Amino acid sequence: MFVGPGLSLVEVFAIVKLAIVGKGGVGKTTLAAVLARRLAGLRQPVVAVDADPDGNLPSALGVPAGDVPEPIAAMRELILERTHAKDGGAGLIFKLNPRVDDLPERFSVIVDGVRLLVLGTVETGGKGCMCPEGALLKALLQHLLLRVPDNVILDMEAGLEHMGRASAMGVDAMINVVEPGMRSVRTAERIRKLALDIGVKKVYIVLNKIVDERQREVVQAALAAQKVLGVLPYSAALADADLEGASVDINDPRFFQAVGELYAALERELSTEGA
Ligand SMILES: Nc1ncnc2c1ncn2[C@@H]1O[C@H](COP(=O)(O)OP(=O)(O)OP(=O)(O)O)[C@@H](O)[C@H]1O
Ligand SMILES: [Mg+2]
Repeated sequence: MFVGPGLSLVEVFAIVKLAIVGKGGVGKTTLAAVLARRLAGLRQPVVAVDADPDGNLPSALGVPAGDVPEPIAAMRELILERTHAKDGGAGLIFKLNPRVDDLPERFSVIVDGVRLLVLGTVETGGKGCMCPEGALLKALLQHLLLRVPDNVILDMEAGLEHMGRASAMGVDAMINVVEPGMRSVRTAERIRKLALDIGVKKVYIVLNKIVDERQREVVQAALAAQKVLGVLPYSAALADADLEGASVDINDPRFFQAVGELYAALERELSTEGA
């Protein structure tokens, strides 16, 4: 977390770089979109990154289908040009540090103040793929996380096995989303171990789709030592929005109050050491 440049002490805000992780369907994309829109609403610069090969962050943000950028991972020409790789062939030689600084602006769309970038994936093949696509995506991710002075929210693929150290470097925290159910709890435990293994310093649980106090207590007890940063209620309006193919721009004060509390807790945590 670092403080935005060129601001007076009164205007100071902190930039956050977050990765949203968790089991399939727990609400990662929803939370990524809601947090990105919240930051944009506060006039903070924010890049929302769809890093899921089967991602739907564009629709959660309300980007019309025809305006969704092509995933960078699928831009063969660009990948070859930037990495100086030849298409196909064995014994491939390519640049490991391709130029990427122009890509976020060139290949993104802005929707309600959120800059959306579609990567397609972050890394492939476990520890990261030794291929031109992998080199370009890794360089782009590092650029976004370490050099761009904007908030960055990565909407990750379910699980974490695909993730390597490049995604961990520069992420302030991982938000590990859990829905009420032991399968989701077990996945969250596995993700936490993997995240710590690849060097992520802070991994926080967010409980999502919580219907009542009993659910919250049971899930929280099962998570034992893990830090729960926020509890988001089940929102019928949110579920309806997806049913209608609409964005996460819904009217549900309870849900948004909980998101506000979650964000405040995150800011507090990131301004102190340790997790
Ligand atoms: N708090 C909530 N209340 C009600 N419905 C929710 C809530 N959060 C998410 N949902 C719904 O749950 C479904 C899955 O959400 P979402 O796509 O965000 O999950 P995901 O973790 O990104 O899934 P995937 O692993 O497939 O990428 C969607 O229909 C979404 O509208
Ligand atoms: Mg998703």
